[in-house]
Amino acid sequence: MPEKTTISIIKCDVGSLAGHHIVPKPLIDIGKKQLKEAQKGGLINSYYVFNAGDDLELLMVHQKGETNPEIHKLAWNTFQEAANKAKALKLYGAGQDLLGTAFSGNVRGMGPGVAEMEIEERGSDPIAVFAADKTEPGAFNFPMFKIFGDPSNTAGLVIDPSMIGGFKFEVLDVMENKKVIMKCPEEMYELIALIGTPERYVVSHVWRARDNLICGSTSTTRLSLIAGKYVGKDDPVSIVRSQHGLPALGEVLAPYMHTFFVEGWMRGSHWGPLMPVSLKDSRCTVFDGPPRIVALGFQVGNGMIASDDNGEPLISDLFEDPAFGLARREAIECAALIRGMGEFEPARLSSHAMEYTTLPKVLEKLKKRFVKADS
Ligand code: F6R
Ligand code: MG
Ligand code: MG
Repeated sequence: MPEKTTISIIKCDVGSLAGHHIVPKPLIDIGKKQLKEAQKGGLINSYYVFNAGDDLELLMVHQKGETNPEIHKLAWNTFQEAANKAKALKLYGAGQDLLGTAFSGNVRGMGPGVAEMEIEERGSDPIAVFAADKTEPGAFNFPMFKIFGDPSNTAGLVIDPSMIGGFKFEVLDVMENKKVIMKCPEEMYELIALIGTPERYVVSHVWRARDNLICGSTSTTRLSLIAGKYVGKDDPVSIVRSQHGLPALGEVLAPYMHTFFVEGWMRGSHWGPLMPVSLKDSRCTVFDGPPRIVALGFQVGNGMIASDDNGEPLISDLFEDPAFGLARREAIECAALIRGMGEFEPARLSSHAMEYTTLPKVLEKLKKRFVKADS
C-alpha cells in the first residue's frame, strides 16, 4: 500500500492589526519560521503560511494522517508563539481564539479551525484550499452543493460518466453534534432542506459515491458553543480535490462567479455578501468586511506540494483574476444595499442566531420594564 498523504489547514485568530482587520507580518513570519523548522525536522513535507483577514492560516502537507497529535501540537505551539508576539505588540484581540489552556493532543475544540484530508494520491492531484474571514463554516454549504450536487454548475455531473454516480455529503448538526450522510442526486431535495440552514447544518465531508473517493472537507468548529459565550464567528476553511473524474478546477471555482449571502460580518451578527479576493486583498475593512474568501490552488504529489527548484511551493492565488471582478462588484453593491437597512432584519441575523451574540445582554435589562398588555 502506498503511503497516504494528508493536507491539513489549521487556522486561528491570534491577534490582528488595527482592529479585527489583518494579520501583520511579524505573526506571519512566526508561522513561516515554525513550519520551516518542522519541515527540516521531517514532521511535515511542505507548508504555506498566509492570512485570511485577521486569521493566521497554516497549510501543511505531511504523511502523519488526520488529527495527528504532533501536527496539531505544531499548529498549537505556532499559534501560542504568534499570540505571545501579538500580546507584546499589543495587537488587537491577542490570543482571542486560543480558548483551551493545556494542549491535549488535538486542537479541535480548543479554538483553532481545522480542515484535513488524507488521500491516496492519484497520478496527479490538483487541490484547492479556501479560507474565509468574517463568516462561519455553513458558508461553504452553498458552494459545496453547487460543486458536487448541481448539474447547472458542474457540467461533469452530466457529461463525465465517472461522475454520474453522484456524490455523498456528510452533514453535521452543530447544535446536537450529530451527523448524517446523504447521497446526491437521489436525496438532493432532502439535502437542501438541511443545508439550507447553514447556521445549524454544515457540510463537513464529500465523497464520490461510486468509490468513496474523498474530495471535500471543511472546518466545523463553533467557538461560541465551546466557550459558552460570544467569541466571534468561526471563520472557516475547506479543502477540495478536483479533476479527472471529480469536478474540474473551473467547476470548483464557478460558484464564486457571483456573490452570495453568508452569516457573519460585523460582530458576527449580520448577513453579508461573500467577496472572493486575492491574497493581497485579504483584509476586512468596511463594516468589518464584507466577508472575504481567498483560494489557493496547488498540486500534491510524492507526499508534498509541487515546488520550484528552490523548494518554494507552487501556489496559484485563484481569485486573483478579473473573472471574479463581477462577484466583487456585486458584493460591494449588495453590501451597500443591505447596510441601508441598519439593524433591521434581514440585515441583522434572526433573533435565534442573535442568541449567540452579545445582543441578549442588551435586551436583558429591558425585561423588567415589560408589563402585561390588554388583550
Ligand atoms: C466579527 C468580528 C468583528 C468584531 C467587531 C467588534 O467576527 O470579529 O466584527 O465583532 O469589530 O469587536 P470588539 O467587540 O472586539 O470591539
Ligand atoms: Mg479577530
Ligand atoms: Mg477572522
